[in-house]
Amino acid sequence: MSTQTLQGEIVVGLDIGTTKVCAVVGEVGEDGITVLGVAQVPCRGLRKGIVSNIDWTVRSIKDAIEAAQTMAGVEIRTVYAGVAGSHIRSQPSDGVAAIAGGEVTRADVERVLEGARAIPVDADRQILHVLPREYTVDIQDGIRDPIGMSGVRLGAKVNLVTAATSCVQNVIRCAERCDLVVADAVLESLASAEAVLSEDEKEIGAAVIDIGGGTTDVILYVDGGIAHTFVIPVGGNNITSDIAAGLRTPMAEADRLKQKHGCALGRMVSEDEEIEVPGVGGHQPRRTARRVLSDIIEPRVEEMFAVIRKRIEDTGLLEQLSAGAILTGGAVLLEGMPEFAEEILGMPVRLGYPTGVRGLTQLVQGPQYATALGLVKYGAQAIADAENRAPSPPVSLIRQKVSAKRAQVVEEEKDEAPKPQGNKIWEWLKAAF
Ligand SMILES: Nc1ncnc2c1ncn2[C@@H]1O[C@H](COP(=O)(O)OP(=O)(O)OP(=O)(O)O)[C@@H](O)[C@H]1O
Ligand SMILES: [Mg+2]
Repeated sequence: MSTQTLQGEIVVGLDIGTTKVCAVVGEVGEDGITVLGVAQVPCRGLRKGIVSNIDWTVRSIKDAIEAAQTMAGVEIRTVYAGVAGSHIRSQPSDGVAAIAGGEVTRADVERVLEGARAIPVDADRQILHVLPREYTVDIQDGIRDPIGMSGVRLGAKVNLVTAATSCVQNVIRCAERCDLVVADAVLESLASAEAVLSEDEKEIGAAVIDIGGGTTDVILYVDGGIAHTFVIPVGGNNITSDIAAGLRTPMAEADRLKQKHGCALGRMVSEDEEIEVPGVGGHQPRRTARRVLSDIIEPRVEEMFAVIRKRIEDTGLLEQLSAGAILTGGAVLLEGMPEFAEEILGMPVRLGYPTGVRGLTQLVQGPQYATALGLVKYGAQAIADAENRAPSPPVSLIRQKVSAKRAQVVEEEKDEAPKPQGNKIWEWLKAAF
């Protein structure tokens, strides 16, 4: 992949999550990405990663964008938006193309990828990404970057990520209602992996597990490429609901208790520790053993990791994940998460904190910022790739795409405006009666 970047290009990542909307503004220069602004606003407009209330979501996006704009001192018009939810599917596909001039060019690669995406997709679904796994040139396989290689026949093995069109459109619609243009809708786990995974880990095989409030997004890397991805509709909010029901306390208090005193592994909590549990419906607060809290949390976390392990086993790729699992997303801040995950997944586990940026890094340090920051990294790479495809004149294809979309929005607005024909009918009615 290319590393060419533009001096001073502003790239904004917009993570519309189940618990919060997070906007990160990055400036992409020759020396990498500098974070200029970050804003996080609570959001109640999504259920399990899918927009369920447009108005609430729009309000949170507006607030987040406004705050991020003020901090960064730039006007935000274009964003890279995240998409998640259990409607996401990943399936293998392949393509073949003749190598036009005897040596593989970027155009040949684009053609073979076009071929790989030409498979029937249900009418209510759309292709979100075509993720190359490996190329073949004639009889040689396992090629990561075929450009410049000699041969007559180029093949590509890819993973197609598809999503329910309505879910993607709702994300785009929410952003457009905030006068934003979505440069690209990006799979959230792909973005998170961009933020927390090293090139070495991609190479030797790793699973990135992003446990948010409503979803757990998993992406598997094997031999440097994306081998599989899936989303499970369970997250930290399920743990909170269990606590609220188990300790009979309001959801907000249950979340606070989880974050402050929660532990995923009961045996890490000593028997004599006590916590205060606020009552619900006017009942007095009461004291209880901290162990009771972890006894509620443990079975849910165990179930989550057992499901993840089973889903990974089903792909047949478990043995190839030599670097183990990288846990990210807000819910992995729960004490005892990595230890418990290691036990159930049966592989090495580390926590994934976003890295590889400069500027206001302390504001995007937590694992809950992995997706938003990863969206900025994804956007920066997309712009660099587009620049490389069209080096002269240096006009970014992404910007062209953006202006095309803006033009389309303007056209639609024009369509929605009252038509002069309506006035003619009014004139006719006036004349007739
Ligand atoms: N210190 C903490 N300990 C335990 N859990 C935490 C902590 N901080 C945040 N969480 C949990 O993390 C979850 C939110 O994580 P995150 O911000 O990654 O979710 P999201 O991106 O809004 O949701 P999703 O990705 O599922 O759409 C909530 O369930 C919250 O309770
Ligand atoms: Mg998230």
